Amino acid sequence: MDNVNTACIGTGYWGKNLVRNFYNLPGCRLRVCCDLDPDLLAKNAILYPGVSLTQDYSQVLEDPSVDAVVLASPAVKHYEMAKLALEAGKHAYVEKPLTLSADDAEELCEIAEARGLVLMVGHLMEYHPGVGKLKQLVEDGSLGDIHYLYAQRLNLGIIRKDENALWSLAPHDVSIALYLLGQEPVTVSARGESYLQPDIEDVVFCNLHFKNRAMVQIQVSWLNPHKIRQITVVGSQKMAVFDDVEATEKIRIYDKGVNGNDYASYGDALTLRTGDITIPKIDMTEPLKTECEHFLTCIKEGKTPRSDGRDGLRVVKVLEAAQKSLKKNGVPVGLNGAS
Ligand SMILES: NC(=O)c1ccc[n+]([C@@H]2O[C@H](COP(=O)([O-])OP(=O)(O)OC[C@H]3O[C@@H](n4cnc5c(N)ncnc54)[C@H](O)[C@@H]3O)[C@@H](O)[C@H]2O)c1
Repeated sequence: MDNVNTACIGTGYWGKNLVRNFYNLPGCRLRVCCDLDPDLLAKNAILYPGVSLTQDYSQVLEDPSVDAVVLASPAVKHYEMAKLALEAGKHAYVEKPLTLSADDAEELCEIAEARGLVLMVGHLMEYHPGVGKLKQLVEDGSLGDIHYLYAQRLNLGIIRKDENALWSLAPHDVSIALYLLGQEPVTVSARGESYLQPDIEDVVFCNLHFKNRAMVQIQVSWLNPHKIRQITVVGSQKMAVFDDVEATEKIRIYDKGVNGNDYASYGDALTLRTGDITIPKIDMTEPLKTECEHFLTCIKEGKTPRSDGRDGLRVVKVLEAAQKSLKKNGVPVGLNGAS
């Protein structure tokens, strides 16, 4: 296949970025833009001449020239729209979160696997060069054993009306945590509060516990004075901080730690070590472009995406457990649903 014929569905706040990428990428022909909003379609008509426009998703599904759909519709519609696409024989890219329930995500994975179709979820951060660097530091042992990490995704806005801050923001950090640690947590607990709208948490603190005693804390909020996008990874040898708000120096590696663990002689045995701070050079490419290219490559070469449906399912399982815990005032919830 020389060109993958794509259709972008949902061309709003985020979808417009997918439209731009799929329109411009070599090896791809963007055939259709689909949105319920006629004003957005009119904008697409000006920006992307030659691309068909429709408000009717069924027309995309019935179009035999469309190989793959790219869904950036609201999360509540992902399951239904992705299922229809896969059943129509189309490869599917679905924005995060893949679905709003693990059962639905499992079903999508099974349909895609049974039909040999690519199902990919938009876990953007797994394609970020900074996260790639962190992954390399974890895998090559530079940081030592990973004790814990914490992520902060905070800003003033965007305030969502149909999902809380957990489902809107935490998919990114959960996907990063699982990607870096290469395992799923055993239990998840979360506390949060709704200050602006009833039952829609604006701020959530979420804790993941792993079998090997590793811990992850994720803090998300759209009610914060300024923008913070940080991940701190604390290992037994070194510590690393990824700051996505930094323009160039996105990662700092701290040669810091504590030597010795002879608790018998407290004070003498534990010595603090503070060495150099290094800032590795990271060649920045637009993560979304890398992600879109990866989707096309997987279709052309029959490969499984890094963020495939199963990856989407793992993240949804964590979010689902966190949501249950949130409604039970932070009681730890097992990934199998038990508390
Ligand atoms: N990867 C990221 O960094 C990132 C950032 C923001 C949003 N997102 C994700 O992107 C998705 C969309 O979010 P958004 O902020 O762009 O929302 P949005 O409301 O701005 O856009 C959604 C669009 O989908 C359209 N739509 C809804 N139902 C439709 C249907 N049946 N057929 C065709 N069009 C339909 C709406 O008209 C709207 O234009 C969500 O899953 C969100 O989580 C991802």
